[in-house]
Amino acid sequence: MDARQPALSALLFLVTAMLAACGGGSGEGLDANGRPIAGGAAPGALAADFGSIQDHVFTPICTVCHAGGAAPQGLRLDAANSYAMLVGVPSSEVPAVLRIAPGQPDASYLIQKLEGHAAVGSRMPFGGPYLDAATIDIIRQWIAAGARS
Ligand code: HEC
Repeated sequence: MDARQPALSALLFLVTAMLAACGGGSGEGLDANGRPIAGGAAPGALAADFGSIQDHVFTPICTVCHAGGAAPQGLRLDAANSYAMLVGVPSSEVPAVLRIAPGQPDASYLIQKLEGHAAVGSRMPFGGPYLDAATIDIIRQWIAAGARS
């Protein structure tokens, strides 16, 4: 129509080409938050071992809040930190209770928080949706068996 038309067409072509290039590249294998799908919705069923619980629960659900310097109660649950911050470590809210007491799921603050009967604060994940009983039971089994890494 006017003199700008060819330039506009060229721009549209360029944008379309860039979007097409992205489709086969950078967006692949990432979830809606841009995180690798492997670390989020892990393949396979949840099993009673640390790696599986990390991949199915801690990383996709808990690290929304429990990560970085501002993690609630200083509890970071990303794969690099969670084990060392949980197993055999006193909770911040009730220091007499370990976050995870190996062999003792009932005495583990993490379980008390997941089931909603801890002495302090809210049920986890904060604000819900909460983990179903089957998922909590598998975490209980891992703790009962010694909470090995
Ligand atoms: C929406 C943010 C949010 C999510 C998601 C969340 N938490 Fe929390 N968490 C908090 C906050 C805030 C606190 C401190 C206040 C409280 O306890 O209610 C907390 C406290 C805790 C504590 C107590 C730590 C201590 O040492 O006293 C544990 C254990 C815990 N969370 C575990 C989890 C686990 C496990 C998950 C994932 C299944 C999870 N949280 C998901 C926000 C969150």
